[in-house]
Amino acid sequence: MCGIIGYIGQKDAREELLSGLYALEYRGYDSSGIALVAQGGLVTVRKKKGRISELEALLKSDTSVKRSGIGIGHTRWATHGAPNDANSHPHRGNVGLVTVVHNGIIENYVELRAECIARGEEFSSETDTEVLAHLIEFEFEKDRKDPLGALQRAIAKAQGSWGLCVLFEGYPQTIFAAKKDSPLLIGFGKGENYVASDITAFLSSTREYLPLCDGDCAVVSAENVEIYDAKGTLQNREHTIALWDKDSAQKGAYDCFMNKEIHEQPETVNKLLKGRTKDSLPDFSADGFDVSRLAKAETIHIVACGSAMHSALYGKHIIEELARIPVKVEVASEFRYENPIMKENDFAFVISQSGETADTLAALRLIKQRGIPNAAIVNVAASTIAREADGVLLIKAGPEIAVATTKAYTSQSLILALLAVAVAYKKGTISDKYAREFTHNITTFSDSISEMLESTKKLENIAKRLENQHSAFFIGRGRDYATIFEASLKLKEITYIHSEAYAAGELKHGTISLVTDDVNVIAFATDKDLFDKTLSNIKEVKARRGYVFLITGKDGEYLSHSCDETFVLPEVDDHLAPLLAVICCQYIAYLTSKGMGLDVDKPRNLAKSVTVE
Ligand code: G6P
Repeated sequence: MCGIIGYIGQKDAREELLSGLYALEYRGYDSSGIALVAQGGLVTVRKKKGRISELEALLKSDTSVKRSGIGIGHTRWATHGAPNDANSHPHRGNVGLVTVVHNGIIENYVELRAECIARGEEFSSETDTEVLAHLIEFEFEKDRKDPLGALQRAIAKAQGSWGLCVLFEGYPQTIFAAKKDSPLLIGFGKGENYVASDITAFLSSTREYLPLCDGDCAVVSAENVEIYDAKGTLQNREHTIALWDKDSAQKGAYDCFMNKEIHEQPETVNKLLKGRTKDSLPDFSADGFDVSRLAKAETIHIVACGSAMHSALYGKHIIEELARIPVKVEVASEFRYENPIMKENDFAFVISQSGETADTLAALRLIKQRGIPNAAIVNVAASTIAREADGVLLIKAGPEIAVATTKAYTSQSLILALLAVAVAYKKGTISDKYAREFTHNITTFSDSISEMLESTKKLENIAKRLENQHSAFFIGRGRDYATIFEASLKLKEITYIHSEAYAAGELKHGTISLVTDDVNVIAFATDKDLFDKTLSNIKEVKARRGYVFLITGKDGEYLSHSCDETFVLPEVDDHLAPLLAVICCQYIAYLTSKGMGLDVDKPRNLAKSVTVE
């Protein structure tokens, strides 16, 4: 949801900003721009609609842009105003004394803009951000001596969310920054410093960082960083060292990040499990997470968005089956406005890869306000959700760059499986033998993923076929029903092929009217107890001449006689087989998208981190 970066130091700021913007491009790629402070303090702005490569080409061809050691940059996911050059950031104040890049939304921008216009100011874009530049400049112009005060007074008038970097004319050695409800981090180098929405923007230069808190303003020069809290008090906060290394945010030998991240899964699954089992049983003591509180819960709520919500669907199935505790899965954007029913002995999880999703964060705040014990399942340790939740379970998947999640979904689902075993064991709803067996099977899941990824050649035919199709249906029952939503989302989000997930038994209650000659149906059948029921549904599709691609285990091979193509999964625990089937579909989606010549990592209109409601 827009990415911002600021750099100050001895290096060429243009190069630093471009490389940071490339790392942040997953946050939005409608347009990008930079502002550099030239010698003498003048600020030069260049911005361009389209991908960052367009901006880079513009900068290469423009010899008037001089080398500078300080600048700010932005990559945009359009909210207010079309994705064109004029609406691209940076934005400037009325007379150009102040230059701003912004991530977030200024909710009262209409009235603030009217105030500025009433003063005779002119606007050159349709964005909410430009009003901030005007407001800050209006305050700054009063004496031009107190840029920090001008920034603080201006944001006090704004409502909404912001991660902000600001340049002031006459202050060529300083970047000013502010944060509220949008992530912003300071990266500390030697004789150089960074401000960015995400650690990946400066990871190749430094792993030492500090996340700003809501209400903070920062004054950043090459040698020094001052942080002031919402009350204007100078802070002395400890720096953190990132767990991620710089190579983890690079594509390496892979053609795209999604393919890399799919193949990383055996490793990320092992990282997730490291230190979380003991004597063949789950062990969350290193996380400081008390399973007995969860075992006493009357209802478990899981709130999330997108694929994180899909992992919750899998978690619901397995927790209810093993631990017999009712689990309510809710989409965060609905949960927060529906006055949710939660009781004091309930427990709530929020799940978020980025830990910054605005709706999930708002849901967590509502959960906390109601006094419900809670924990966050997140990937980004320094994220707002991780900082605000009562407890944190890190999935430790490393940076996920492709917009379509793969490894994070698998790890979120798997940690829920491990929690299900832990709770069920605590409650005594599963035997000691079963708990140990299943825990063992979870710890060997990475081998099954590796084995599966060795036979992806067998997925090329279905991917090729899908390239020319308009629609696809995913069907499954039981556990498979809990996972086909994610498989379907993967296909539609990166190939733009219309795709829907249906309970196999539900198809005949309406949707089967869409199944005619050669319509694609991808059937998950990993649940042995339901093979014959699923077979009936497959036959219903075949009777209408649909094309059925079956994903099943060895025991289900006999179903293949009724299907057009079958992919047989490696031997794996019954509860984990549907997750392996999703990984197959991640790969099919990747192959299809690539075959169609699309941008696999950056599908149209999407952004990975959604920090607006
Ligand atoms: C976006 C991404 C999805 C992700 C969802 C929730 O829509 O494209 O891949 O699942 O946000 O993100 P989170 O960071 O909260 O998991």
